[in-house]
Parts: sequence; structure tokens; C-alpha cells
Amino acid sequence: MLSKEENELLTRIGAGTTMGDLVRQYWLPALLTSELAEADGNPMRVRLLGEDLIAFRDSAGQVGLLANNCPHRGASLFFGRKEERGLRCVYHGWKFGVEGQWLDMPNEAPESNFKDKVRAKGYPWQQRNGGIWTYMGPRSTPPPLPDLEWNLLPESHVYLSKRVAESNWVQTLEGEIDSSHSGFLHTVLDEEANYLGVQGAVGDRLTGNTARGMYYKMKDRHPHFEVLDTDYGVLIGARRAAEEDSFYWRITQFLLPFHTVIPPYGPDPAFSGHAWIPIDEHHTLALCFTYHPLRPLTEDELRRLKYGGGRLGQQGLHPSVDAFQEPTSEPWSQYRSIYNKANDYQMDWEAQRTVRYSGLPGVWPQDSACQESMGPIYDRTSEHLGTSDAGIIRARRRLIGAATALRERGILPPSVDQPEVYNLRSASVVLPRADNWVEASAEFREARPGVNFAAV
Ligand code: FES
Ligand SMILES: [Fe+2]
Repeated sequence: MLSKEENELLTRIGAGTTMGDLVRQYWLPALLTSELAEADGNPMRVRLLGEDLIAFRDSAGQVGLLANNCPHRGASLFFGRKEERGLRCVYHGWKFGVEGQWLDMPNEAPESNFKDKVRAKGYPWQQRNGGIWTYMGPRSTPPPLPDLEWNLLPESHVYLSKRVAESNWVQTLEGEIDSSHSGFLHTVLDEEANYLGVQGAVGDRLTGNTARGMYYKMKDRHPHFEVLDTDYGVLIGARRAAEEDSFYWRITQFLLPFHTVIPPYGPDPAFSGHAWIPIDEHHTLALCFTYHPLRPLTEDELRRLKYGGGRLGQQGLHPSVDAFQEPTSEPWSQYRSIYNKANDYQMDWEAQRTVRYSGLPGVWPQDSACQESMGPIYDRTSEHLGTSDAGIIRARRRLIGAATALRERGILPPSVDQPEVYNLRSASVVLPRADNWVEASAEFREARPGVNFAAV
């Protein structure tokens, strides 16, 4: 439970808020390179951290992320003309480069020095593999990009998808570090199928050989949680009974400010997780990744990631490519799904009686139905947290602590300036009961190039 003030502090990310200032210290994976593939293509409306922006790629291939309103009299730069190395506002013809710098001001006298004083608000960007990142923070020289493994590998090793979640970013983040819900919400009624991993239903279950971990997970439905603060965020271990002398540990990573990596399954695992990017305080852009650390994803794996399917429902961890509404030009409308609040996420009551625990059509709609039905910003003064919520409690403390330390003492978390702390993985391992899980799992959690460890 949080006080009303703590809940406000945790969830609000508008400019000038305590948490908004913390989140703005970090790079945001704002766009996929595929979304802005074309030089001089049409501009795209983007909304991030409650700010409306226009994204475009100029004739030289450089990306611009400019404030929506032209600095002259505020017309939207969405309608801008794509001209040589810049975007020209169609209202009075002012032209800006990708960093917002003035390029031309044709309705002012040539001798006017007005142009030297005016620039459009523009945010720096960096492109790496499948991601275009932006920095909306205060530094003139931004920190380095975080070394997240999904963004360091060649694009062929990685599958990325996006969807809009109609709830606050902390709600979605909390859903992913909560290992205990998956033994309920994401299960089918046929016990045997659960042990076999409901093959094809979850994005990271690519290998098919998932029996043992799923078996342990289904057998012990009240995991014991242990959590640890780290340089990058929080390390969360969910311990379940395995054999008489061993425990099954599912280890999830929370990386400041909004990244998660969830535990894998199988002997040659792929890894999955999310960046929970705040669009504004009521909407989240869920950027989901699945990657194999050693090799390109196969045709068959990509087919499953793109089209979902399986007994748990049509949708996996990733939304299928046909799960979206007809887009408009509104920000992120291309990622609004046909499974939504207005249609109860296509709830199937008959399936709830006969096939699936929830009746909801797959992994992410199951998560969304629960997270969005809490209201856009859940009133955390009303909750009753149990022992299985230890990871959530610690992640909130970490976020609130980091934001407050920045606001009151100007102290930044080490992760802002140390990209290498992000170079890690999640893990799922069976360890002797006597072992210290943090030490015994250390090598599995390292994102070592060229190495992949079996998961359970
Ligand atoms: S409002 Fe953009 S040039 Fe006048
Ligand atoms: Fe879930």
C-alpha cells in the first residue's frame, strides 16, 4: 500500500514532476527503425511523457523529433513540407533542421536577427539496430545508450512489437515483475497442457521443450520471493519447490526506469521482456522484445511471434500483426488493439468454463484486462499487498527513492552513466536448496556475447 502522495509521486511523469525528472535522465526507445524507414517520408505524430512530438527522417536520413507546435505561432509541424534537410511549417514557411535549428524564415526581412533567437524544441536521438532512442532530459551532452542485449544484437536475432496499454506505466511494469500471476492468469484448465508449456502461446517459449519449469511452476503456486537492490534496478527471485533437495528459481530483472526481462524456458532459450514507455500518465507504449542471443530467429519462430495461436488464446506475449485497429494519424493509433476495454478484450465465457483459466484470448490481453480494469492510475491506498508482491514493493521503493534522491539531493542512479550495468539477462534455474541463489545464478544472468545457458 502507498499513501496518496507516494502514489502520485510514483505514477506522474509530466514535465517538472519528481518522477518525470528521473525518467527524463534516461534514453527512451521511442521508435522502431522500421517506423521511420524512408527519407523524406510522411512525418509521424508521437506522444512521449505527455509531450506531443513530430518525428521525421530528412532527405539525408537523419531523424528529427520536434515539438508538435511550431515556435512561430504554434501550427502543427505534422503538416510540414519535407524539404532538403528539414521540415518547413506550412503556415508561414519557417524551416527547421532535425535538431530544431532554424534553417529559413522567408517571411522575415533578410537583415532581421530574429532567426538567431528562435529554434524549434528538438530532442537528440540515436539509432542502434532496431531502435531509435531519444533523450528528453536536461543535459546538452546526453549520457550513453544503455547496453540492453536486445538492442546490441543484429536485427535478425530480435523480434520487436508494440501495443498501447490503456493504463499508467507503473501498472504495466508491476504486472511483469509479478511472477505469481502467471500460475493463474496465463494457464489452461487441462493440467497436462500447462506442464507442457501450452506451446506456442507465449512469445519466449520458442523451443517447445518447456515441461520441467512449467511443471514446477504449476506444482508450487505460492512462490517465495527474494528481492535485491542493484546498480541497475531490482533483481527479483521467485523460488518454488523443485525436487526434494532443490529449488526452482525464476529470476526477473527490473532495470530503471522502465525495462523488464522475464525468465526464459527451455534448453536453448530466447529472452523476452518489455520497455514500458510512458505515452502520458494514462497510456503506456509496451515495446516487447524476444531475442536469441546467438542466432537469427528462424522462420518458424517468427511465424509464431507474428501470428500467435495456441490453446491459451490467439495472442501471445506479443500482439499478433493482425491484432490492431485501423490506424488514424493520432499518436500510436497504429498500436491500438482490437482486444480492448470497449469489448471486454473479446472475453470468451465458454472458454473460461472449458479451456482457459481466464477465458481471455491470450497472454497480453489477459494482462491488459487485469491491469486496465484497475483504472488508468490505480489508487494504491486501497490495495492489500501479500508476500508474493515483494518484487513490486521493492521496485516502487527503488523508483520513489531514486526520484526523491534526484529531486532533493541531485543524486543520480549509477545506471544513468554506466551503460554496462544493463548488459544482463533473466534466468530460470534449478539450484541445490543450500545454495545462495544470487551467487549461484550470477553466471546465468550475464549477457556474455556468444554464450547461452540452458534454462529450465
Ligand atoms: S506557425 Fe509555423 S511558420 Fe508560422
Ligand atoms: Fe502476465
